[in-house]
Amino acid sequence: MKRIGMGLIGAGFVGPHHIDAVRRLGYVDVVAIAASSETSARAKADALGVPKGYGTYEALLEDDDVDVVHNATPNYLHYKVNAAVIARGKHIVSDKPLATTSAEAKSLLDQARAAGVVHAVTFNYRGNPLVQQARHMIARGDIGRPHFVHGFYLQDWLLKNTDYSWRLEPDKGGPSSALGDVGSHWCDLAQHVSGLRITEVLADLTTVIPTRKKPARAREAFQTGSGQERLEEVEMTLEDLASVIVRFDNGAKGAFSVGQVCAGHKNDLQLEVCGATGSLGWRQERQNELWIGRRDGASHVLVKDPALLDDDVRRYAQLPGGHQEGWADAFCNVMRDIYDVIAGDARSAARPPAFATFEDGYRATCIVDAILSSAAQGGVWTKVAD
Ligand SMILES: NC(=O)c1ccc[n+]([C@@H]2O[C@H](COP(=O)([O-])OP(=O)(O)OC[C@H]3O[C@@H](n4cnc5c(N)ncnc54)[C@H](O)[C@@H]3O)[C@@H](O)[C@H]2O)c1
Repeated sequence: MKRIGMGLIGAGFVGPHHIDAVRRLGYVDVVAIAASSETSARAKADALGVPKGYGTYEALLEDDDVDVVHNATPNYLHYKVNAAVIARGKHIVSDKPLATTSAEAKSLLDQARAAGVVHAVTFNYRGNPLVQQARHMIARGDIGRPHFVHGFYLQDWLLKNTDYSWRLEPDKGGPSSALGDVGSHWCDLAQHVSGLRITEVLADLTTVIPTRKKPARAREAFQTGSGQERLEEVEMTLEDLASVIVRFDNGAKGAFSVGQVCAGHKNDLQLEVCGATGSLGWRQERQNELWIGRRDGASHVLVKDPALLDDDVRRYAQLPGGHQEGWADAFCNVMRDIYDVIAGDARSAARPPAFATFEDGYRATCIVDAILSSAAQGGVWTKVAD
């Protein structure tokens, strides 16, 4: 099999997971890392066993050994970096959100289509075997017509006023914080699993922590302060908590909340779809279980076991029953689908891959835009752009 060269831009929290995931595929060489300086690029490349480290992303894009670029930089760089990758004719795997506005996301979608490159957004929860099982069961009609899709995505890593991230700054994270960061995941997953589209939203946004102590030196995601840093008091303008009521294109209703200030919730994404004859519920922190709710029979929990999954879903389970799959396994599953298409694997033509494209990434930015618009008007029903 022809080997494929991968280059990573941005090796903070999530970047190294992109590297781990593609290394597991067996035919991808991690060729280079680009970081924000030569020194940090060299240090990160050495630490991750990557041959080349570049101090700018432009230098990485000039490397002919790089066929596919993964963009794991902070959100404000997504448009610029993704556009530069596409202009060089390389395949692009962008971390979410695709861009900070839907206008930029649409432009990236158009550019990627015109260039004919493979384009993907890492909405990685799609890669969980039981998420795919739920999606197949709903598509097959196992729970009848969905009429209610609800859930939440809650975390607690920004609960204290000493917690800080570039995600809280509009010029780095974009015009939303929790919504763009984790809300985009929930919306994508809700649509992917239910097979429905969110068409209208009504939102209530809150800033629970009105001022925060910003460290003089930037922290990577989930890093805690040393206690010795110089701190500056800054006012927060973006939401750290949000609740949204939604309407779907089949008439189904829904509701979800997102927040990064909810103690005890570490990476707690929950999605439930209620249909005419049953319900399905999946929770990221218990990702090896799928709850199947019934009215006229016993509700039960399907515990992940490849032998019990649908034929088309089994490839997303990498381990036998009783061996817990995790976040990194699902991330790798998404990469496998993406690289199957890049490699022109005939199997990927036979079974449509489940990864999110720039079209899905654009769709998620449209929903966040509509939520922000709804909240700005004081909470009114707002249509999501098509
Ligand atoms: N798919 C997921 O589940 C998931 C999880 C976490 C983060 N993300 C997304 O990934 C992106 C990165 O998030 P993170 O949590 O890793 O952030 P982070 O702050 O931990 O890491 C970002 C890295 O990018 C580097 N960087 C900044 N400017 C750069 C430049 N010009 N060139 C190269 N590198 C540069 C920073 O030095 C840092 O190392 C965000 O867009 C975020 O939304 C996705």
